[in-house]
Amino acid sequence: MSDIYLQQHAPGRLREPGDGTRSLLHLDSSASRPGDSTSRQLTALFAETWRRRHPGAEYRYRDLAAQPVPLISSDFVALGLRSERRGNVPLGAVSALAEGPGEAREWSLTLPLINEVRAAGTVLLGVPMYNFSVPAALKAWIDRITFPGAFTDSVTGESVLGDTEVVAVTARGGCYLPGTPREDFDFQTCYLRAYFTELGVPEDNLHVISAEMTRAGDVPKLARFRVLGRRSLDEARSELLALAAPRPDAEPWPL
Ligand SMILES: Cc1cc2nc3c(=O)[nH]c(=O)nc-3n(C[C@H](O)[C@H](O)[C@H](O)COP(=O)(O)O)c2cc1C
Repeated sequence: MSDIYLQQHAPGRLREPGDGTRSLLHLDSSASRPGDSTSRQLTALFAETWRRRHPGAEYRYRDLAAQPVPLISSDFVALGLRSERRGNVPLGAVSALAEGPGEAREWSLTLPLINEVRAAGTVLLGVPMYNFSVPAALKAWIDRITFPGAFTDSVTGESVLGDTEVVAVTARGGCYLPGTPREDFDFQTCYLRAYFTELGVPEDNLHVISAEMTRAGDVPKLARFRVLGRRSLDEARSELLALAAPRPDAEPWPL
């Protein structure tokens, strides 16, 4: 299993974004306390490093587990259908389509979340594996931001996320790397990749960094994988530092 682990891709670097993309949206979704959560510790490491690299850049944080996004309701779906039937409705025109206070409330819960993603140069997600997939807290956010046309330019019909970087930090109690017995149980990585590429985030801008075997220190039957778990965590840290750290050759950012 260690050999398979070593086959992980080499650490990358985020491209240098333009002025309009100097912002980080950081979302955690682990139900664990910060001290117990690998994904929270890793996203914090990335965010701290990124913020040192981009002094003065905008930073937004949401804890989707502590302050869950409300589940979408029938009013959300009805408003979405009405908007979808009209074609490419600009986001600014959706509120005029809302019928009744329920739909207006749904839109008031939704629009700020969509705008946060549209404004972010980099979206950082902490994603524990829960039951082979993503936590419900993250899925609730995903369902809500995926309003029809939310990330489509209403004039060109193109995605507005073509320059957005997504860094998804997954933490898994077991190991799901290619070639491992549980490879086919990983509905987390493929889901995140499918979701963000479908939204228009280019493959090259999508970075999924995994910490495997996070429970090896706690679960007796996984004890033999402790070294693998520690190495995976070290690798994840290195990859995140490489993605977020200043390039030695980088031009200073204009303030
Ligand atoms: C509700 C729940 C479901 C989980 N399901 C899985 C699972 O399907 N596969 C797995 O490998 N680990 C599973 N785990 C273990 C977590 O993936 C692991 O503890 C991970 O480190 C959680 O991320 P965190 O440390 O950021 O909280 C589960 C943990 C919880 C609390």
